[in-house]
Amino acid sequence: MTVHIGAKPEDIAETVLMPGDPYRAKWAAETFLKDAKCVNEVRGMLGFTGTWNGNRVTIQGSGMGMPSLSIYANELMKDYNAQTLIRIGSCGAMQEDVKVRDVIIAMTATSLSTPSRGIFREINFAPCADYSLLEAAVTASRKRDVGTHVGGIYSSDVFYDERPDLTEQMMRHGILGVEMEAAELYNLAARHKRRALAVLTVSDHLITHEALPSDQREKTFGDMVEIALEAAFS
Ligand code: ADE
Repeated sequence: MTVHIGAKPEDIAETVLMPGDPYRAKWAAETFLKDAKCVNEVRGMLGFTGTWNGNRVTIQGSGMGMPSLSIYANELMKDYNAQTLIRIGSCGAMQEDVKVRDVIIAMTATSLSTPSRGIFREINFAPCADYSLLEAAVTASRKRDVGTHVGGIYSSDVFYDERPDLTEQMMRHGILGVEMEAAELYNLAARHKRRALAVLTVSDHLITHEALPSDQREKTFGDMVEIALEAAFS
């Protein structure tokens, strides 16, 4: 047990999928895993462990934003020895050719700041995905009937952004989408020599202002979970 995860050491698998929303963790575990059992309920940040194609997997909520993700990812890596951590979540599109429902596989994650800022100090570290996971996720995604984009994303500290100039610079530099967690997951994976990736579904669009209707979320998020599982075990 750790401060924020009540699971026994053996309850957490080496491969962990991390949605921001704990109820999405529950849905994904019930939908895609066999024999899923709840292994964490501390603060309602639900975690489940089961098997997928015979492979043990944990699906643990991370909460929203990098400080929250940092707590869970640190404990998973350092106390539970998680080796492969894949964020599954939603993002806002920042390019015209990226459409709502498309999948973005995040090669890099730009940020203004992360919880690691304090140790990096003057270093502008470039948080990036594990290449083997990235390649496998791209292959898995391209097999599906889903628009797939691979490139840089922006991990923001705010959902309600009041810096249109910043959004404009991100778009100008080809950033595909905005979310709030991946950069710190990539930082921690680099520090602890683990594999990390973020597979994201576009839920809203910063240019067209379109948003994914709630009744269509399940199918699209399902693609993302399967892409992450295939990538983890390829
Ligand atoms: N996650 C989903 N959409 C987002 C947005 N527009 N900004 C930040 N995080 C998001």
